[in-house]
Amino acid sequence: MVDGIRDTVRVAVLVSGGGTNLQALINAEKDGRLHPCEIKLVVSSNEGAYALKRAEKEGIKQAVCKDEDELLKILRDEGVDMLVLAGYLRILSGKFIHKFKKPIINIHPSLIPAFCGKGCYGLHVHEKALEYGVKVSGATVHFVNEIPDGGEIILQKAVEVKSDDTPETLQRRIMEEAEWKLLPKACVIVAKEIIKSRKDGREGNL
Ligand code: GRF
Repeated sequence: MVDGIRDTVRVAVLVSGGGTNLQALINAEKDGRLHPCEIKLVVSSNEGAYALKRAEKEGIKQAVCKDEDELLKILRDEGVDMLVLAGYLRILSGKFIHKFKKPIINIHPSLIPAFCGKGCYGLHVHEKALEYGVKVSGATVHFVNEIPDGGEIILQKAVEVKSDDTPETLQRRIMEEAEWKLLPKACVIVAKEIIKSRKDGREGNL
């Protein structure tokens, strides 16, 4: 607390799969690179997600949830200030986004507006990039709104596409060179805005 204003931002990370982006956030928090964010909760859309094991290992609270009303309740109960979608395979409804009212950010493994939108997730993104023949792809962190991958861009990073790339090798390079670096940085940028908005008395209206 500084002058009666909380100077940390409680983050919930939504996952569905392996959770390497979650791991990047955990590592950043351990190294002090995630401040003012604190990872309070990891919520998975499916109980088999390896990301849950990563959270368990770190002693981070976990939940499995498919229902949006239930999700909203969990987030409110935990006092979550910001939501990070890190490989979350469900599309949040406009109703949820409107009710949650706090910043939601997502990481997408391409340079939006290329290779994004409904149905463009996971390896499909990299298959499409290779099919098109682009020489550069990358990752984007953006705010979440009602349009899949359509919200305001926070950070982007380009990554070279090599002539012998497969979707798998391209996916890995984009994760290593862009995603795992961008996501912690974007969280910090948004969290600092949240704290600034508290000081100005406009939290929830970012
Ligand atoms: C990442 O490529 C992310 O950009 C996309 O889904 C993948 C999830 O990977 N949204 P992981 O679960 O973080 O390992």
